[in-house]
Amino acid sequence: MKPIKVGLLGLGTVGTGVVRIVEGHQDDLQSQVGSPIVIEKVLVQNKNKSRSIPIDADKMTEDPWEIIRHPEIDVIVEVMGGVEQTKEYILEALERGKHVVTANKDLMAMHGTEILEKAKRHQCDILYEASVAGGIPILRTLVEGFSSDRITKIMGIVNGTTNYILTKMSQEGASYADVLKEAQDLGYAESDPTSDVEGLDAARKMTILATLGFHANVALEDVSAQGISSVTKEDITYAKRLGYEVKLLGIAERQDDLISVSVQPTMVKQSHPIASVNGVFNAVYVHGEAVGETMFYGAGAGELPTATSIVADLVAVVKNIKLGVNGKQSGVAYKEKKLKTDEQ
Ligand code: NDP
Ligand code: HSE
Repeated sequence: MKPIKVGLLGLGTVGTGVVRIVEGHQDDLQSQVGSPIVIEKVLVQNKNKSRSIPIDADKMTEDPWEIIRHPEIDVIVEVMGGVEQTKEYILEALERGKHVVTANKDLMAMHGTEILEKAKRHQCDILYEASVAGGIPILRTLVEGFSSDRITKIMGIVNGTTNYILTKMSQEGASYADVLKEAQDLGYAESDPTSDVEGLDAARKMTILATLGFHANVALEDVSAQGISSVTKEDITYAKRLGYEVKLLGIAERQDDLISVSVQPTMVKQSHPIASVNGVFNAVYVHGEAVGETMFYGAGAGELPTATSIVADLVAVVKNIKLGVNGKQSGVAYKEKKLKTDEQ
């Protein structure tokens, strides 16, 4: 059985989880796909940094092209973050016929259409389940599970860092700055946490959810976003007294062909299930015309939950390789969207 060779770009929080799962679940993975999955090379910024998992020194490189242009690597797993440089690596990998799995919502929300088109042209898979809601398989659910229905609303908590902060402020009276530092230490926050606390990370995820859920090319610029940096302990205390919790909610709605997408701190009635989604957990409500209301819940960030989504994508890519059906992912030929304006 010829092994499937993976080039891993990044060995931080998520990359470490990918190595743990690929190695720890190797037998189960192999029995599903019929080949060993081998992490052939790993890109890092600093080879001399101490790591929490043992990795052969000769597998590590600081040169991305050693992986992107490696003739034997079949799949690139991108968990390094960043946009412009990372896009260049991914586009070249696709041109070279390599399949790509990424957790990068910034990249997919900003350049998803171009990357998906390139992947299709080269009959490659590009899968990005981990980019939204960490360990919740929400993208696959939207694309496959709801293919028979017409989704009218997607709403939820899609940023783990801010939910962790709001929960600790609400339940323990903790200070915003202290809990943000904790979320960073736990590996939940982005390398620049401004995108978490200012709602941009959630806006990027809502762009991806709305695009896939409504079968329309929604652009990041079309999403209005407000974060939690101005939410005070007093706001949270008063909200609680009135029977509400403050949550950072993403809301995407479709009325006929008009779409609106936004992210903002919202007072949620304590009796509503979303009010009890706490800590790093995320929850996504999906309303379909036929199915009615559904809800998906799970860890929205962190090493192993996020890595489960990455490795599930990897399994899907390898199954497609075996069937010879790569490059058929959704999201390429979507129609242009119409945005709902204030007058509508
Ligand atoms: P980390 O900062 O923990 O890890 C980034 C890794 O990439 C590090 O190993 C770093 O090397 C390497 N790296 C970064 N830039 C470069 C570069 N220019 N050249 C070579 N190597 C580089 O990030 P995370 O693991 O937290 O996140 C990775 C991606 O996953 C991001 O896109 C993030 O948005 C996404 N994501 C993260 C989640 C989480 O819970 N953390 C959840 C879902 C998605 P070195 O180790 O040497 O510094
Ligand atoms: N910083 C992100 C969050 C990571 O806190 O939700 C998961 O995408």
